[in-house]
Amino acid sequence: MAGARSAVSPPHLALRTATRDAHEAAEASPMMRSLVAGELDDLGYERLLAAQWTLLSRWEAERSAWLDTLRVLHGWPYASRAAALRRDLMATGIQRDHLPELRQTAVPSLRMPADDALPAALGELYVIEGSALGGRVIVKGLRERLPHLPHHFYAIGEGTAAPWRRFQSLLDDVLTSPASLAAAIDAARHMFARFQQTLQDSPAHV
Ligand code: HEM
Repeated sequence: MAGARSAVSPPHLALRTATRDAHEAAEASPMMRSLVAGELDDLGYERLLAAQWTLLSRWEAERSAWLDTLRVLHGWPYASRAAALRRDLMATGIQRDHLPELRQTAVPSLRMPADDALPAALGELYVIEGSALGGRVIVKGLRERLPHLPHHFYAIGEGTAAPWRRFQSLLDDVLTSPASLAAAIDAARHMFARFQQTLQDSPAHV
């Protein structure tokens, strides 16, 4: 195959196709079904937020140098999910004793990934940015059922200055070789698996 840019299926569509089953599995997970069905109470919602905070604060620490580079070189303004989750969790007030590290405002910056890890980082970010699309739907229900809570995390895709189509163009601009696209797909599938594990584990986090 020639450069993925000129292929029939552009990289952003190849990523969607290659992860469709993982997305369906995430949507079908008991935790997501409960969330959408309005069956999570305050504590269940808080457990879900806490589990996602654990995953995403670690990921942001792993990738912080890369995210800075992405902002500078490609103008992608990544919005911190860990910060949004932290604000949501602090608003619930319940988790403060269980997650004292939430009081920290920043996670430490780790190393910059090697050049050949950049497509993988982009594949991971694809899952995170894409999940904000579902969040736009989810937050509407949350505001009706839990109006006393702020829902910063699930609202992060609303009114964004970084629309999804721009992110798809970024994928198409960067994932120009078959090897880079394959690395991004592998990483995206791994990221979906990390989310899936997080969703399964979340009731045990409190
Ligand atoms: C019940 C939960 C979920 C619902 C209702 C949902 C719904 C949606 C919707 C409506 C879209 C937009 C499709 C479009 O406009 O093109 C979308 C895209 C996406 N979602 Fe979800 N989602 C959910 C959970 C998740 C989770 C947990 C993740 C990540 C772990 C995720 C990752 C993605 C990704 C990566 C895309 C982009 C797909 C593409 O390439 O077009 N979603 N989702």
